[in-house]
Amino acid sequence: MTKRFYITTPIYYVNGAPHIGHAYTSIAADVLARFKRLDGFDVFFLTGTDEHGQKVEQAAAAAGLDTQTYADKISQDFRDMADAMGVSYDDWIRTTEQRHKASCTELWKRIEAAGDIYLGHYEGWYAVRDEAFYDESELVILPDGSKIAEKSKAPVEWVREPSYFFKLSAWQDRLLQFYEDNPEFIAPSSRKSEVLSFVKGGLRDLSVSRTTFSWGIPVPDAPGHVMYVWLDALTNYITAAGFPDTAAPRWDFWPADVHFVGKDIIRFHAVYWPAFLMSAGIAPPTRVSSHGWWVVDGEKMSKSLGNVVEPRALAKTFGLDQIRYFLLREKPFGADGSLNHQAIISRMNVELANDLGNLAQRSLSLIARNLDGKLPGRGPATAEDTALLDAANALPGLVRLNMDRQTFHEALEDIWKVIRSANAYIDHQAPWALRKTDPARMAVVLRVLVDAMRVIATLLQPFMPESIGRMLDQLGAPADTRSLADLATPLVDGTQLPTPRGVFPRYVEPAA
Ligand code: MSP
Repeated sequence: MTKRFYITTPIYYVNGAPHIGHAYTSIAADVLARFKRLDGFDVFFLTGTDEHGQKVEQAAAAAGLDTQTYADKISQDFRDMADAMGVSYDDWIRTTEQRHKASCTELWKRIEAAGDIYLGHYEGWYAVRDEAFYDESELVILPDGSKIAEKSKAPVEWVREPSYFFKLSAWQDRLLQFYEDNPEFIAPSSRKSEVLSFVKGGLRDLSVSRTTFSWGIPVPDAPGHVMYVWLDALTNYITAAGFPDTAAPRWDFWPADVHFVGKDIIRFHAVYWPAFLMSAGIAPPTRVSSHGWWVVDGEKMSKSLGNVVEPRALAKTFGLDQIRYFLLREKPFGADGSLNHQAIISRMNVELANDLGNLAQRSLSLIARNLDGKLPGRGPATAEDTALLDAANALPGLVRLNMDRQTFHEALEDIWKVIRSANAYIDHQAPWALRKTDPARMAVVLRVLVDAMRVIATLLQPFMPESIGRMLDQLGAPADTRSLADLATPLVDGTQLPTPRGVFPRYVEPAA
């Protein structure tokens, strides 16, 4: 039976245009989805848009559009962005869809039937920008006397209204037990400590309905109440798996294997979400993997600073695969990182054009020139041949381990170690000098290089699907045999290779 794997991105608020931060979460999730498919899994990869709540209602009003029309437009923009960035999602969910309303309604009823929902009155601070409630202790006062949330800097307002509550306070011990039983649930460990201390600090009941606006999913049998947008949004992950129809074939994918999230939304995913699910008798997800934020030239991206990076524009300047590579290579997944053109150019020119591109180009042009472009057969191996091939053949295991931990930059670093060894090998073996003196040995060296590059390229497909696809064409690996399992079958000796063409261009500053 094929192993199933369910990956999600957060669903994006439709209150503004997509930017590179959004593209980052989706590209990271895409890399894992593609890797799992290559590794023989039946993958379900979900993304989409989060369309309810006050923030979207306000953004639509500011744009002078009816809320649904506005949501349709921005949702499409996010979808176009995902397509343009090569995000290979299997389903695009929108929280304004009927299937999602049905799912939220049923989840609510189950939580209510479990005795975890009661009617009360909410009085406290709310930040529309974060769609989150805050305690007094989480706020700071600005010189003008107004208050903002300390962490996100979002302005807060005092809210007082009738509200249904979720008995989160009753879930403290069960959540702590859950984290203990599932030590891999939250990644990275710094975020895990943050979540644990939040839960240990005591949980208050959570307001899960609002009455002061109507852009949301109605609470069953409670006129005037709409569901809190985070309860609504989180539920998307089970909606897409078919909930409440647990006989649906997709339901076999639940629980999700990895929810990708930014560090700002870990609490919703790692505290509220498992509590809602456990209350409703549904298994919580296996893992919540959180990433750090991108800043631009050291500054937070913001509309007012005018430094918001549009992912499609960046891909147009440097190449889509170059950007995908940069985003996953430049910083550890969980850490923050700074986006700047020099850093992109340096990775693009040094690692892609030089280290990898030249390695392929040098080896393949020797085959083209000296062997009529025919893939040479394997021959007697020297210790150096074996050392390089062993290092390459160890890569799938190392990369798999890093993928399962979402330590993408380490996976790439492991691959680059072998690329650097292959460059040292070609320099040292100097196959170009063997053409006359020992052509048989030259052929063996070139085959060793092709075999090592084949493993490297196979593993790089999820990161740079288009460029690496072309590289595999040049290496003579048929398009339908590029999975990890296919590595066990050697390339066919004598295969006619296409004329080698550089796959990774150098970035040259356009003339002023
Ligand atoms: N709608 C909620 C998620 C609901 S999931 C059930 C939401 N949406 S969002 O559009 O504001 O953010 C979506 C994702 O983009 C988050 O994971 C967030 O961390 C990420 N990013 C937004 N800005 C970012 C950066 N500057 N850098 C990296 N990621 C950033 O939250």
